[in-house]
Amino acid sequence: MLRTKLAIFPALAAFPALLVGWHVHAESNRTTFPQNIEELVHYATVRRGEVTEHLLTNQTAIDAVKAGQPAPAGTHVVLVDYRDGEVFRYFVMEKGENWGSDYAERRRTGDWQFQWFKPDRTVNLAEDTARCQSCHMSRGEQEFMFSYESIRAFDGVAVE
Ligand code: HEC
Repeated sequence: MLRTKLAIFPALAAFPALLVGWHVHAESNRTTFPQNIEELVHYATVRRGEVTEHLLTNQTAIDAVKAGQPAPAGTHVVLVDYRDGEVFRYFVMEKGENWGSDYAERRRTGDWQFQWFKPDRTVNLAEDTARCQSCHMSRGEQEFMFSYESIRAFDGVAVE
């Protein structure tokens, strides 16, 4: 195995463009921009330096998480990243029936898929969404969300 890799490497090194493409698998996937974003519930705010993040999801998902149930298929969770009061980007995770099967098991984040949308709500194709998954994977016991406990604590006022 190692010998194979060593043999391939010099061949790749001869093509810098190929090497760049090696780690960046920009792609679209099934994640959609939530058309009803104005109706989603703002359940938490995270402030970090210049960045203010609003975390949103639908009431059905909040009810499910509070009841200790999985979020239903069709759930959107959105992180709106504001800089200087303007939307800088939207990070979206969406769950769909059996969407996990689009990925090899080692990459899978349950039935959630991830996407980065620009302020104009189109996909940022420069992002490798495997990065999103590899970080969120650690939250498998909490619906792949870092803010799971904020949802549980949410009582109508965004948790800070
Ligand atoms: C290095 C780890 C890391 C990576 C990579 C990452 N996230 Fe997150 N994500 C977090 C953390 C931590 C939070 C909690 C909010 C915060 O602290 O900013 C979060 C929050 C979120 C949320 C709100 C729900 C939740 O989990 O709390 C969404 C949606 C989200 N991320 C989507 C994405 C998308 C889409 C990408 C890739 C474009 C991505 N994330 C990449 C760590 C990561």
